Amino acid sequence: MNNDILETIKTRRTVKPMDYTGEIVPETVVTQILEAANWAPTHGYTEPWRFVVFSGTGKNKLLEFMTHLADGDTPNPIRYEKRKAAYDAASHIIAIGMKRGDNPKIPEIEEVLSVGMAVQNMWLATHALGYCGYWSTGADVFREELANFLGLTEADKSLGFFYLGVPAKPNKEGIRMTDIRAKVVEIKA
Ligand SMILES: Cc1cc2nc3c(=O)[nH]c(=O)nc-3n(C[C@H](O)[C@H](O)[C@H](O)COP(=O)(O)O)c2cc1C
Repeated sequence: MNNDILETIKTRRTVKPMDYTGEIVPETVVTQILEAANWAPTHGYTEPWRFVVFSGTGKNKLLEFMTHLADGDTPNPIRYEKRKAAYDAASHIIAIGMKRGDNPKIPEIEEVLSVGMAVQNMWLATHALGYCGYWSTGADVFREELANFLGLTEADKSLGFFYLGVPAKPNKEGIRMTDIRAKVVEIKA
């Protein structure tokens, strides 16, 4: 376990299911990870993050739904096997949703930003506790059918999946295309 926040931030990596052992993450850890998400900041205490946590045979329900969403009644066997392998390797698949609040002063973009912060908290906690994960998106995750399947309504949004697992190997070195100095303008006087 790594308690140094800057080190945790820098060494967190996107780790995909092919690099998971297939072992199960204990429920106590999953709870800690979700609690970390709940400490994300928001404008106006809207707390718009919603999660649906799929594990065990519950993952099969998601597999069936996502396969049908992508391919209709005739699943593409290659896509199906790829998705199934990823679902099997993941301990938990956490669907990420944004629940739109009713305060008209808070624009939707602020709610989406807050969910992004919640996911980062979740991801950092995952890494700090010795587990791994990644945020998966792709065109189908933003579809209204998925939002409905997750129990969200028209004003809400589904924003992807957080795959959670046990890492098979140490994290790789991170890559950034440019240094932070290339993205910052300083005006000092
Ligand atoms: C909002 C968001 C969506 C992402 N969606 C995908 C995805 O669909 N597929 C994928 O391979 N990686 C996805 N990623 C992970 C990025 O590819 C990854 O964070 C990036 O390559 C940097 O690597 P790192 O996380 O190890 O620093 C996503 C990341 C974010 C923040």
